Amino acid sequence: MSINLCSIIDLPKIQDPRGNLTFIEGGNHIPFDIQRVYYLYDVPGGSERGGHAHKDLHQLIIAMSGSFDVLLDDGKEKRRVHLNRSYNGLYICPMIWRELDNFSSASVCMVLASNKYDEVDYYRDYAEFMRAKWQI
Ligand code: TYD
Repeated sequence: MSINLCSIIDLPKIQDPRGNLTFIEGGNHIPFDIQRVYYLYDVPGGSERGGHAHKDLHQLIIAMSGSFDVLLDDGKEKRRVHLNRSYNGLYICPMIWRELDNFSSASVCMVLASNKYDEVDYYRDYAEFMRAKWQI
């Protein structure tokens, strides 16, 4: 799986003077069904999150409020993506190492995931991730 498969998805946005509205339908606007939602909040300045890859999990990451960066790494190439719009989601396919940093104050990072939490699905060790990636 290459980082080229990870992309910003422009979510539907209903503009309204009373406030804008965005919606997401699993399997329609994003390429997986949603089994889990979690979010990071009250993130202290300078914090780093992530630092792992998933074996089978598909995810969509949205900056619901504020901004942060996601560093994507497929073992060959790296790309840094800045998220700061609540109508944009970053789709991350399986087998991509990711790190999140540069959180602005009061930022909220929401993640939609294709499966329930399962620690077995994680690579938390970069060397182990690289070995699995290149079958060495
Ligand atoms: P982790 O995925 O490492 O967080 P991040 O990638 O944002 O830095 O998860 C941190 C802790 O929370 C870890 O002990 C597992 C637990 N956790 C759950 O119990 N359920 C979940 O859905 C998630 C995402 C994490």
